[in-house]
Amino acid sequence: MKAVAIKDVKQFEIKEIPEPKADGKKVIIEVSKTGICGSDIHYWVNGEPKGLVMGHEFSGVVLDPGDRLDLIKGDRVTALPISPCGKCEACRNGDVQFCPETWNQAVGLSVDNPGGLTSKIAVRSDMVIKVPDNIKDEEVAMVEPLAVGLHAAHLGRIAVGDDVLVIGAGIIGLASAEFAKKEGASYVAITETNKARGQKAVDLKVADEYYDASDSDLVSKLMAKTNGGFDVVIECVGNGAAVNSALSLVKPGGIVVLVGVATDAVPTYTVMAVMKELVVQGAIAYTYNEFKSCIDLIARKQVDVLKFVDDIVPLERVQEAYERLTSGTDAAVKILVDPKK
Ligand SMILES: NC(=O)c1ccc[n+]([C@@H]2O[C@H](COP(=O)([O-])OP(=O)(O)OC[C@H]3O[C@@H](n4cnc5c(N)ncnc54)[C@H](O)[C@@H]3O)[C@@H](O)[C@H]2O)c1
Ligand SMILES: [Zn+2]
Ligand SMILES: [Zn+2]
Repeated sequence: MKAVAIKDVKQFEIKEIPEPKADGKKVIIEVSKTGICGSDIHYWVNGEPKGLVMGHEFSGVVLDPGDRLDLIKGDRVTALPISPCGKCEACRNGDVQFCPETWNQAVGLSVDNPGGLTSKIAVRSDMVIKVPDNIKDEEVAMVEPLAVGLHAAHLGRIAVGDDVLVIGAGIIGLASAEFAKKEGASYVAITETNKARGQKAVDLKVADEYYDASDSDLVSKLMAKTNGGFDVVIECVGNGAAVNSALSLVKPGGIVVLVGVATDAVPTYTVMAVMKELVVQGAIAYTYNEFKSCIDLIARKQVDVLKFVDDIVPLERVQEAYERLTSGTDAAVKILVDPKK
């Protein structure tokens, strides 16, 4: 079957890979839609690992239910793409996101486990979740990034009336901003280097205001606006400028949630955290319950994720979609891939 795989720095190839075989354990899924994630972009930019077939945000239809007695062929599903051991303390507590095994066999994030940039995938059966009939395939493919935003907002311990800053208006920033409002923030600002994306966050009513991250007066403007800093800053970029901006713009005693994945070392003045007694909180993925909550929130029409979907492209246009998402000027935030298109 046809698959899109990493070939080199910023370069994909379309190649043939073997179809997954039913083994009585894993669930074989025919992919309906797959999202392109900011984390996927890091792999594409680095051109490594070669041969990786990405796509960890997916919706699909069961072809073979494996050892899941409650599933039948034709069921519409999604899955947590991760591979927690199920036995360690983190797993027993439901915190699958920090099980040491979680990323080793992750679907679409490890070479032996191709993701949704192909037509059929094999997924750990205990990670598969059946989805309600009233959610579209496009919405189901948005559950995974939405859950990242929910987890970040939870870890920000946002209180009613808080001022919250989200840095970066990619899908993770937009989802975090959406949940910051739901958690009770009375003011949500977003900073972006891409003006079109920043403006879009306001147009979609996810943020109250957008500020240009490249503005040399950014800190003084936002300090004046918030009377001395934000209660919570959620950093959704993963570079030094964004991390330092977060530490500068949070108020004393505030919380900085680091969601962005920095692939290089980030030089910073830790004295900012010392002097302000900050809580610097990392956030990785989501708990199993947060993932399920996002399915419920979409099914109950509490969150509209379709507003974030800019385009749906076939496998042949994945390369072009990545270029569009990294242009730095295009307003597109989330492009889904339909392998059947
Ligand atoms: N922790 C997790 O579990 C988790 C999960 C998914 C993604 N991520 C990471 O979160 C980050 C965001 O993901 P995404 O899918 O939204 O990515 P994205 O690339 O679509 O969005 C990042 C945005 O940040 C903007 N930006 C760049 N520099 C900036 C700056 N200095 N200030 C403000 N904005 C700036 C870019 O223009 C872009 O719009 C990535 O690093 C991704 O790897 C983390
Ligand atoms: Zn993702
Ligand atoms: Zn475990």
